[in-house]
Amino acid sequence: LMKQMIFPAGFLWGASTSAFQVEGGYNEGGKGPATTDRGAGRPGIADNKVAADHYHHWKEDVDLMAELGLKVYRMGFSWSRIMPDASGNPNPEGLAFYDHLIDYLLEKGIEPLVTLYHFECPQALVDAFGGWLDRQMIDAYLRYAEICFTHFKGRVKRWVTVNEQLIATAAGIMNGNHEKDPQKNLQNIYQMSYHVSLAEHKAMALLRQIDPEAQIGPVCAIQVVYPHSSRAEDVLAAENAEELMEFYLLDLSVRGEYPPYVASYLKAHGLYPETQPEDAAVLKSSTPDFIGINYYFSICVKAKEGPVNYNQPPFWVSDAFDICDNPYLKTTEWMDKGIDPVGLRIGMRKVYNRCRLPMIVTENGMAYSETLGPDGCIHDPYRIEYLKEHIEQIGIMIAEGLPVFGYCPWSFVDVVSSHQGFAKRYGLVYVDRTETDPKQCARVKKDSFYWYQKVIAQNGLPE
Ligand code: BG6
Repeated sequence: LMKQMIFPAGFLWGASTSAFQVEGGYNEGGKGPATTDRGAGRPGIADNKVAADHYHHWKEDVDLMAELGLKVYRMGFSWSRIMPDASGNPNPEGLAFYDHLIDYLLEKGIEPLVTLYHFECPQALVDAFGGWLDRQMIDAYLRYAEICFTHFKGRVKRWVTVNEQLIATAAGIMNGNHEKDPQKNLQNIYQMSYHVSLAEHKAMALLRQIDPEAQIGPVCAIQVVYPHSSRAEDVLAAENAEELMEFYLLDLSVRGEYPPYVASYLKAHGLYPETQPEDAAVLKSSTPDFIGINYYFSICVKAKEGPVNYNQPPFWVSDAFDICDNPYLKTTEWMDKGIDPVGLRIGMRKVYNRCRLPMIVTENGMAYSETLGPDGCIHDPYRIEYLKEHIEQIGIMIAEGLPVFGYCPWSFVDVVSSHQGFAKRYGLVYVDRTETDPKQCARVKKDSFYWYQKVIAQNGLPE
């Protein structure tokens, strides 16, 4: 590999968070309750009520971003902070919070890249009609999008429709679907996902009308799937898994249709959603400007043997593949699938070949259990190594001709993990709190912060 790697001028070096994982202030400023306020919902694990207390530390956080040199901050809006109830009326205090944050980011020369929907459902909409299972959610989302697009026109120039639709529809704790019957649960997931796709297309079309200068796209949890062996059945199982977990959603976003294999699979398994005749035109009414890529690790599969195992994440419940270990990768405490930087390049090449759209890495990062050392610092060489190896692959992708225009590690500060509270940290900046005691949530720059600061300053990897 090359020793030094300089990136194209204007490359967007960034960092990521999401509203429910960073903000806290869960009942302040007129925010309505969200499905995610209770966190993973397990005793002894941090919930999202205080999170990293960005609601009160936002100014200090933006100052740290400026010190780091960020060009872009990939953040989320809390839907229920802006729309606390089912009335369709916005909460002025909620909008004012984001006004202050966004204006200060712009003042510091940092572009906000804003996710409209990152796992959190307003509880009011779940209570009123059940959330994404009901088509009324499409209009509720559109109304929310309309308010955001209009209010932040000219200030937010890039929007994300939905973060990781695969996970957003599968995680009942986040979307309010608590169906116990496994088959009915899968039906619900595909029905919700279909509604999310309709909502996404309507929002993309709406942005074209409200702010034609702005850009919009989905964030995809890319699934880089390797076959366990060169046996044709294993190779086919890997193809099946990618179609069912990744390309079906990308095709819906980009082409407005299901890939043939996925359509036939869903029909054969009684999972094809209920549709209405006018939907086809909606799905074809818009295309994204870019694809956001979230990637942490690759997975490995083999041909299905034995009965379907329902005791795993719903998107792995299938008779078309079996998840297995990859003996070639180094695993860590929190990354049992193994660290795989080359997988990012393999995955993004496939996405580009399928979608032919510019891409930005919206999440990529290294989880670790961390506490302040006696010197008051966090030395995280493992994170520096992880980020370096992935950035290196992005440099190679660009050299190979892929239009990758930015990179946002997850996460800027430590945030509440989507499943494991504060035990599992990803931040460039440490947040001093424990699982159950938020303390003052003081910020401490980790070694990786200083390392990434150099990367940004040199627009590439140091020698
Ligand atoms: C992505 C999400 O799935 O992965 C983030 O968009 C999440 O919200 C991140 O935090 C890491 O996952 P986890 O479960 O380790 O927090």
